[in-house]
Formats: sequence, structure tokens, C-alpha cells
Amino acid sequence: MAERSHSNPLSAVLSGLLDQRSQEPKVEPIPDDVRLEGRTCLVTGANSGLGKGIAIRLAKRGAHVIMACRSGIPEAGEEVRAASENPNVEMIRVDLSDFDSMAAFCDELRDRQVTLDAAVFNAGVVPVTSRTNKHGLELMFAVNFLAKFMVLDRLLRDGVIPNAVYGNNSRAEDPPRVIFVSSETHRSSIPIDFDSFGQPVEYGVADGVKYYGLSKLHLTTFFQELSRRLNPGAGAIPDVCVHALCPGAVNSNMAREAPTWLKPILKPVMALFFQSPEKASIPVDYMVCSDDMGRKTGVYMHMMRVKESSEASMDPDNGSLLWSKTEELLHEHDVL
Ligand SMILES: NC(=O)c1ccc[n+]([C@@H]2O[C@H](COP(=O)([O-])OP(=O)(O)OC[C@H]3O[C@@H](n4cnc5c(N)ncnc54)[C@H](OP(=O)(O)O)[C@@H]3O)[C@@H](O)[C@H]2O)c1
Repeated sequence: MAERSHSNPLSAVLSGLLDQRSQEPKVEPIPDDVRLEGRTCLVTGANSGLGKGIAIRLAKRGAHVIMACRSGIPEAGEEVRAASENPNVEMIRVDLSDFDSMAAFCDELRDRQVTLDAAVFNAGVVPVTSRTNKHGLELMFAVNFLAKFMVLDRLLRDGVIPNAVYGNNSRAEDPPRVIFVSSETHRSSIPIDFDSFGQPVEYGVADGVKYYGLSKLHLTTFFQELSRRLNPGAGAIPDVCVHALCPGAVNSNMAREAPTWLKPILKPVMALFFQSPEKASIPVDYMVCSDDMGRKTGVYMHMMRVKESSEASMDPDNGSLLWSKTEELLHEHDVL
């Protein structure tokens, strides 16, 4: 099937609308009576949009929800507690563009001996024009991909996410789940350029979506490689279930940096046609709660449809190169 174009803001919006009308078979939402009491779920970027929708949904099921956010503290936590009627919701501050902040966040989870049953890496950014983080790395590369690699490396090493590969106790019968919020834009991305990995690039409004797609290709390639590395054996049940998804078009704050001329068009289109964060969180809920997703790894979903991620993202050579280049980069920054 031809890949749909997401190469500019307009085609991305149109593609989002078409996605919602697809007739491909879907998985069923998880019934409300499935409970998560005694389970701890981390959600990044949980103060806004989809992340807040996910946090409310998991809290309604009774989970202990840790909202990892850089803003909205404490209001967003209060909102999630009130909407879910679950007091067991907390917020921890983290800036996912800042290595020191991420290290402090990981230290806190380790020192408190938190054990995660599910970690949902949702936070993402779409700057309107090119920007770098304080370490000089392209911002979307840093937040949408690199932060996940760095934080996960720590959580796996520290046993916050139990696993066998990093020498921690695995939970053979009840594997933890790692879920990445990616995007279908990864399909129409330019190829990863390993020679200029993470380096600043110049883009404006028109081609920002191209680099957004590239950051999601980095992420989706990482998801596939992580799934392979954490589950090297051919056991019936994975050691860690690693999944990714595109939530489809969400009426969130994602377009907050859109140019003033585009906002009057985008806002009503998003409000009318895009899914609410509450509805868009249903596939993430499925990945956290379904028995099936706790028996598999490497599953990619587009909304409620299971499908393969792009060929480039599934290529083990790409995955392996991405891994070694990322380690190299993090070593250069004294982070690993
Ligand atoms: N909206 C869509 O149509 C759509 C489609 C496909 C995929 N997605 C993906 O869905 C995910 C959620 O996005 P959304 O649509 O819900 O947008 P959103 O409302 O803008 O939420 C993005 C979240 O990411 C957080 N974030 C950004 N940079 C961060 C940083 N440096 N440190 C910590 N947190 C940071 C934001 O925190 P602040 O509020 O502090 O900035 C916010 O909580 C993203 O990964 C996005 O790529 C969205």
C-alpha cells in the first residue's frame, strides 16, 4: 500500500482526517471493569492533551499514576485526581530536553524503589521553527526520541522496570509494558542520516513536519530494536512487552506553536474532526490493559488497528546502528 504523505502541515491534517475513516479491522476497547489496583503506571507529558487523557483513563481503573511533567504542577495532577476520583495520582517534574533533569527524575524513581508495571512515553514536541536544546541537539530529536532512550536506559538498569537483560529480576509471568506514542508520520520521513545524527537542522513552518516525522522514525526504529534487545530468547512470554502506536489525530495542544495565520484554520478543524484526548487514549489503554499485549512484544498500532510499522523502522541493521550511534552520542555528553 502506498505510504500517505505527511510532508507538510496541511497534508498531515488531511491524512489525520482520512485515518479516522479507515475500514480496516480493529481491536476492541477494554471494558471498564478491568481494574489496575496495585499497578503503577508512568505517563510522560501527562499535563496536557493525550497524556492527560491517558492519565485519567488509567487512574479511573485504580492504578497508581505517576505523571512525569515539566509544567502544570500541581493543577494537572489535581485535575486527574478529580476526574478519576483516584487520590493515588502524583506528579514528578522532568524536562525531557535536559539531561540533568532526566537524571534527577530517574534518581528519584530509583531512590524511592518504584517498580513500574507500565511506562507510557507520550511527551512530544513540534516547534514551529528549528530549535536546539541546551545541549545543542535538535529539539524534536532530543525530546521525541533521545529522552526516551536515556530515561529507559536508567529505568532498566536501576530495575525500576524489571527485566532480565540489564541484570534485574524479570517478572516472567507478568512482564512490565513499555509503550511509545509515535506517529504515522514516521512512514513518510526522510531516511535517518547517521552522519549528522542529532545535529541541528534548519527548518521553518513548511518543512517542520518532515523533521517531526524523522524524530518519530528515530523513535519507531528504537522501539523495534528495544523490543528485540529486551527479548532475545524465543520464550512464549516476553520479558518486557514493548509496543508503540500512533493515536491518530488528537485535538490537543500540539499545534500551540503554529503560526498565527494558521491557528484560525487549525483550531476549528481540530475541534470538529480530531478525536478528543479521552477517545484517543483508548488504544494506549488497550496496550496497558489487554491480556494479549502482555503476551506479545513489538506490536505497533495505528489507533485501534494492529499493523506493521514502516519497513525502515523494522530493519534490524538500522535498529542496531541507531542504538550504537545513540550510545556514542550520550557518551559524548557524559550521560551514559
Ligand atoms: N495531536 C496529534 O494529532 C498527534 C498525532 C500523532 C501523535 N501525537 C503524539 O502524541 C503525543 C502527545 O501529544 P499531544 O498531541 O497530546 O500534544 P500536547 O497537548 O502538546 O502534549 C505534549 C506533551 O509533551 C510535553 N513535553 C513537550 N516537551 C517536553 C519536555 N521538554 N519535557 C517534558 N515534557 C515535554 C508537553 O509538556 P508542556 O505542556 O510542559 O509543554 C505536553 O505535556 C506526542 O508524542 C505527539 O507526537 C499527536
